[in-house]
Amino acid sequence: MTKLQHVIEAQQFTLPLINELFQTADQMEKILERGGTLDYQNKIMASLFYAPSTRTRFSFESAMYRLGGKVISTEQAHLFSSVIGGETLEDTVRVVANFCDVIVIRHTEVGAAKRASLVSSVPVINAGDGKGGQHPTQALLDLYTIYKELGYIDGLKIAFVGDLEQGRTVRSLAYLLGKFERVMLYFIAPDFLQIREDIQDYLTRHNVWFTLESDLNKVISEIDVIYVTRIEKERFADKADIYDETVKKYFIDKDLISKMKQKSIIMHPLPRLNEIAPDVDHDPRAAYFKQIRNGLLIRMALLTMLL
Ligand code: CP
Repeated sequence: MTKLQHVIEAQQFTLPLINELFQTADQMEKILERGGTLDYQNKIMASLFYAPSTRTRFSFESAMYRLGGKVISTEQAHLFSSVIGGETLEDTVRVVANFCDVIVIRHTEVGAAKRASLVSSVPVINAGDGKGGQHPTQALLDLYTIYKELGYIDGLKIAFVGDLEQGRTVRSLAYLLGKFERVMLYFIAPDFLQIREDIQDYLTRHNVWFTLESDLNKVISEIDVIYVTRIEKERFADKADIYDETVKKYFIDKDLISKMKQKSIIMHPLPRLNEIAPDVDHDPRAAYFKQIRNGLLIRMALLTMLL
């Protein structure tokens, strides 16, 4: 098994590594079916969260328990740790690394996980850094979900919808998809929420086809995956009417998905606000709750490759 040093950004995952991770995740499914293992009973994971999370934190903590390990945790590190007294991230990480074998960190600042990895004596996992940073483990579970649901990634046509400018899950997934053959990426958003130039430059450098579009209806019948993300009201400052119009324009309902291929999937990293109508949940193409289970498997697999 390949030994990973840290998990900081999606670009670090090569195709062979992604393949190995998926195979390991498949094995984790069997371990979960029998309730877990005690293989990692001497290992401790610290979850150090400076920003809110439900899925990622519980998923990592559950993954560690299923592997037989133990968890120490702070879910509001900015309020309940020495950070409140002015301790730097670097000092906190240096200290916490003495008490555990792996650190999972979520932070409000882009680049915080990388900074943590530079001073940590144990592996660091980026559980989401800042707005417009990365969320590599979410992207890996998204990719695994696509692979399991559709059976292929090469040649995939995927539409990303919502706040692509700050959406770290979209950014990380774009980096991963850029490693595959003949993928086509449609970034669907109003201009001010469009995907940033750094991702566009990366895709151009790697000869990946992509287009920027604002009208979802133009592409809905062609795509294999629609990947929906939140559009937050705070992004519209005092323009509440434009926010309402935008949410309406990109709303995923039964009428819209009736135009999608039968063999296609609807994804969302969650939490959702008002992007997807609840009755879409019953459509067999809705994959957003399957992503959660796949996240547990991928995170168990990542932990085994790090520990
Ligand atoms: N998808 C995701 O990162 O969710 P949380 O913010 O709940 O961890």
